[in-house]
Amino acid sequence: MKIIAANFKMNLTKKEIDNYLKEIDNKKINNVIFFPSNLYIPYFSKYNIGSQDISFKELGSITGDTSIKQYLDFNIKYVLIGHSERRKYFNDSKYISDKVNLALKNNIIPIICIGETEEEYNNNLTKKVLKKELDEALENNITLLNNEIIIAYEPIFSIGTNKVLDIKEIENIISYIKSYLKNTYLLDIKVLYGGSVNLNNIGNLEKISNLDGYLIGNASLDAKSFLDLTSKIK
Ligand code: 13P
Repeated sequence: MKIIAANFKMNLTKKEIDNYLKEIDNKKINNVIFFPSNLYIPYFSKYNIGSQDISFKELGSITGDTSIKQYLDFNIKYVLIGHSERRKYFNDSKYISDKVNLALKNNIIPIICIGETEEEYNNNLTKKVLKKELDEALENNITLLNNEIIIAYEPIFSIGTNKVLDIKEIENIISYIKSYLKNTYLLDIKVLYGGSVNLNNIGNLEKISNLDGYLIGNASLDAKSFLDLTSKIK
């Protein structure tokens, strides 16, 4: 069964969360991981939960940040690291390695997000960018081998735009990521695809043979249609 990661980003208010929880109650969604805003993580305690980020430090004087130790109190099992929005607004590319290290040290599965811009894609730089982002995340981590790590490939220009690459192209890129990680780091890693996954394109995306799951933003925000979407994912 594929992994379905629902990234709410900075969306939904308490009232909307309450309705969402009513809608998903007692549904068979064991393969779904929810990434709500921090404040609402405790409300998802019945489900698989992750945080959308962690601080690059374990504890200390960092106003406004949240430590992995604090998330652990709420039983998160996963963390998104290096989402392109974090890289864009919070300069996160600098901290990827530290964050991956902290996650692994605390037995949390990092979902490392990588992806190229449209300009990089048009200039045939996709593989180069992905390799760089993978190396930045992994090369200084000595604890890799006995830990589970997940990669999420999200072409930045596909996020929230409905511009999805041809499925053959996605398949080739996933295959590149997997073989690079196998050859360089001896890792067998699951790779998710993210970027405008929705009810209209899921049938087509499901034809990609080497995909281990999806990282879904917008289409996870409405519980009813999200459940519909999850039912189409095998
Ligand atoms: P959308 O599904 O809204 O394109 O977002 C993708 C994403 O960034 C998930 O992390």
